[in-house]
Amino acid sequence: MKLLVIGNGGREHALAWKLAQSPRVWKVYVAPGNAGTVREHKLENIAITAIPDLIRFSRNENIAFTVVGPEAPLAEGIVDAYQAAGLKIFGPTQKAAQLEISKRFAKDFMQRHNIPTAAYATFTQAEAAHQYVDQQGTPIVIKASGLAAGKGVIVATTLETAHAAINDILVEQRFGNAGTEVIIEEFLQGTEVSFIVMSDGQHVLPLATSQDHKRLLDGDSGPNTGGMGAYSPTPFVSPSLHAQIMSKVIYPVIQGMAHEGALYTGFLYAGLMITPDKQIKVLEFNCRMGDPETQPIMLRLKSDLSMLMERAFDGALDQTETEWDRRVALGVVMVAGGYPENPAKGDVIRGLAELVREQDVAGDFHIFHSGTTLDQNKEEQLITAGGRVLCVTALGDNLKMAQQRAYELAARIEFKGAYMRHDIGYQGISYLHKLV
Ligand code: AMP
Ligand code: GLY
Repeated sequence: MKLLVIGNGGREHALAWKLAQSPRVWKVYVAPGNAGTVREHKLENIAITAIPDLIRFSRNENIAFTVVGPEAPLAEGIVDAYQAAGLKIFGPTQKAAQLEISKRFAKDFMQRHNIPTAAYATFTQAEAAHQYVDQQGTPIVIKASGLAAGKGVIVATTLETAHAAINDILVEQRFGNAGTEVIIEEFLQGTEVSFIVMSDGQHVLPLATSQDHKRLLDGDSGPNTGGMGAYSPTPFVSPSLHAQIMSKVIYPVIQGMAHEGALYTGFLYAGLMITPDKQIKVLEFNCRMGDPETQPIMLRLKSDLSMLMERAFDGALDQTETEWDRRVALGVVMVAGGYPENPAKGDVIRGLAELVREQDVAGDFHIFHSGTTLDQNKEEQLITAGGRVLCVTALGDNLKMAQQRAYELAARIEFKGAYMRHDIGYQGISYLHKLV
């Protein structure tokens, strides 16, 4: 069968690569894809992005089903449009995607269904928001309610930053429509983990756990980014915590959405804070896989992903199991100079050709592309084309070994201004170290 993956990041590269491993799949189109997907066996990029064109393509090419990578097409209603056209697509409807699209919706939903999250208040008027911040004091977290590409969250340690954030969002409207409302949230301390499941509307199938690294600099300092690296599984989710996350967060979401008339299908990503006393609090929901979490997760997945998705279309995820590589996978994101504010583009990437040859033989790593393209003017040379450029993802017998392997490989790749964190996995490593 032929499949279609929508998106152009590292997440989509990993999803398409994994789907293509199924013997039942002979072609995975990626719309629009990147220079990494262009080179993979059985993958083919297509330069289509508008929803009606994607629908026409899926119908004409007899695509068995389509998988949506990023949130933007989900927010635009791509799943509703495909379903109206009688085509199969893996993702939530626009109504169900409100869990990510509107932080206000997500917070109110959690309150309605008793799902643990930080205390909060919402405001559309700056004056009331300023007063509230003065009452609450700092640290405090200010969030634009709508989709703001990961930039609409400000963790304020001073009143000055908190007030400035409110003005930025509500008065200056720095995030446009995404900022007609702010959520002001209690600051939570603890360890963040990513918990991602597949849902068929009624049942869920949890994927392997992971941990992302959102801050730009080592030691989790500097500005928030889309994610600088991730690993799977994370030791912070013990079996008992796993059971609690399922019963206190995941099932209540799926049941609550069904109850409210918005069946939740597709990937559901819960960003969780595990507080020092082992309480779970939801920081956010995403209605898609995480990037870069997908890269290590897919490297470990042994089950046939196309089959898991078909089980979801059949509403049979309760009778489905997954098989995972017992090793740990860790991905290090290499970003362009100037990321996240103003990333450079068009720089030649060197060192990859040899690594790609090795990767097919070694089988314990894969280099997933994000912002890369082939320079049409220069004999199709590989160049950078976005903030996050590559995610070097490697397996190891334990977290430390996966980390060493990923960094060894990343050190062999060069492009002007290349930057990466050097401590991906450090929290997990130091936690495991304390246990022995
Ligand atoms: P979000 O997009 O809502 O997950 O927020 C982005 C990042 O801001 C999170 O990954 C956390 O690192 C941080 N953050 C969000 N909400 C809180 C909170 N209530 N307390 C502490 N940190 C937070
Ligand atoms: N890695 C965080 C996200 O995908 O939202």
